[in-house]
Amino acid sequence: MIRDLTDDEARAALPLKWETPGVVPAWVAEMDYRQAEPITEALVDAVRRGALGYPPHGDDLGAAFSGFAARHWGWEVGPEASMPTGGVMSGIRIALEVLCPPGPVVVPMPCYPPFRDVVAVTGRELVPVPLDPDSDDTRLDLAAVSRSFAAGARTLLLCNPHNPLGHVPSREELAALAALAREYDARVISDEIHAPLVLDGATMFTPYLTVDDRAIVVTSASKTFNMPATHGAQLVLPEPADRERLAAVPIPAQNTWSALGVVAGTVAWRDCDDWLDALRGRLSTQRGLLVDLVADRLPKARMRPLRATYLAWLDLRDHGVADPAAAALAHGVRVAPGHDYQPGLDGHVRVNIATSPDRLEQVVDGLAAAVGTPG
Ligand SMILES: Cc1ncc(COP(=O)(O)O)c(C=O)c1O
Repeated sequence: MIRDLTDDEARAALPLKWETPGVVPAWVAEMDYRQAEPITEALVDAVRRGALGYPPHGDDLGAAFSGFAARHWGWEVGPEASMPTGGVMSGIRIALEVLCPPGPVVVPMPCYPPFRDVVAVTGRELVPVPLDPDSDDTRLDLAAVSRSFAAGARTLLLCNPHNPLGHVPSREELAALAALAREYDARVISDEIHAPLVLDGATMFTPYLTVDDRAIVVTSASKTFNMPATHGAQLVLPEPADRERLAAVPIPAQNTWSALGVVAGTVAWRDCDDWLDALRGRLSTQRGLLVDLVADRLPKARMRPLRATYLAWLDLRDHGVADPAAAALAHGVRVAPGHDYQPGLDGHVRVNIATSPDRLEQVVDGLAAAVGTPG
């Protein structure tokens, strides 16, 4: 059911990820798998119909997302709550600019790097809440969040589930954050793009809006269904007042969505559950393989439990190389350097496991060669 791309197919399909000849790419978050057939069919059909005009308002997308949320998470959210946007990051930007109170923005670290950029672009001050790399778990530091709110921050950018830590916050963890947000009248923007990618055995995903009805969710089918080119995402805003404020934003200030994004997102949320099941099974197998390969070839590495996403976080500090990603490149393997996610953090890498078993083995071998362990 999950069709692997050959190297030639992957180079043609994913030119950014595969841009460097001779390098096995395990960096940017794209999967070396063909997208689900219903998405291909719907997009081809839309192009044949000439459906390349301005996008509709996205009612179908909202209804399809509501169905997905109810089936997968038991979350009843009305279709009217969804408002389309061109991408998750542009949705976050518009939410920050239009819906969030002024003042500094709390960003737990490590973070997806554009989280820091979007805070800068909107002219806000960033308040980092770093995870101690020696900490036993990857839960949010709520004491630090509380201090940041007490010092004046009024917005927090949450990644639920977390890229790059692979952490799936529990309902209790999120409820505690929601209580803090209520106490300080702060708003949480929850990026839930990785939510369908909670892997076997993980804590059930908790939609943040089910613990905090003043929150703003931004999500998209594009990550799970491997189709960022379609430029479709949505804000989920149960509060009518939020939707009215957003609807009043002048067109030039919006990053408008695409008609093809609405087509692809609608089909993905509505018709691709079987493919998603197969994907999660496949990613769980890849995760198991990575655990074994790391134990065998990178014995001093610490891998954070990968409960969601296909992006594994490895701590290689005990191997004694400050920038293992740079060293791995010299061995024909591209992984993402930890300092991209937490400036100043040495010795960590993020590894994309959504590839073939062979390539994953080559990636670990390249890393092992780079940090001096025979592979
Ligand atoms: C947490 C997170 N948010 C947003 C995005 C990007 O979303 P978009 O391309 O829709 O802006 C990514 C991509 O990997 C991501 O990991």
